[in-house]
Amino acid sequence: MPNIYLCGFMGCGKSTVGKALAAILNRPFHDLDDYIVERQGKSIPQIFAEDGEPAFRRMESNALDDLPDEVVVALGGGTLMHRGNIERVKHKGQIVLLDAPFELCYQRIRTDANRPVAARSTEDELRLLYSRRRQICAEAADYMQSIPLEDAGPPEACAYDIVHGLGLDSP
Ligand code: S3P
Repeated sequence: MPNIYLCGFMGCGKSTVGKALAAILNRPFHDLDDYIVERQGKSIPQIFAEDGEPAFRRMESNALDDLPDEVVVALGGGTLMHRGNIERVKHKGQIVLLDAPFELCYQRIRTDANRPVAARSTEDELRLLYSRRRQICAEAADYMQSIPLEDAGPPEACAYDIVHGLGLDSP
């Protein structure tokens, strides 16, 4: 079975929905950020501050190469923006975009010090980043799951929609 990679802007719910999806499909779940944090023994803000963002982006690419197969992976919000990563994941599986509105993501990330890209940017900068990235993710995605602004619903319902959308529930 190919891997399933969840992409989308910071705060769209990749990790929450990814865990629910992995449980439904009875597969291991990996969060790319957590994988990097464990390996490096430091937090994402520490990695950005001490090693720099380009080093973090290389860590993301290396982590994609190292992850096992037959898993569900929550990517970082910027993972697919970096050279070669779309090819890397397409080669091993399918990409799902969690298409949440900017307002919902922004509400969730605006005060989060653990997200250096959000912490260093203004709302307008993030809005621009959101629309640039959304276009790239939408082009790369095998399936787009809309997340409504109001009442996003339980992650399990969203995960079932993805299972159906990817055709994993048909024989
Ligand atoms: C980033 C998103 C973060 C994390 C890092 C950079 C980004 O992941 O990888 O802080 O560039 O959008 P989440 O999307 O899980 O917040």
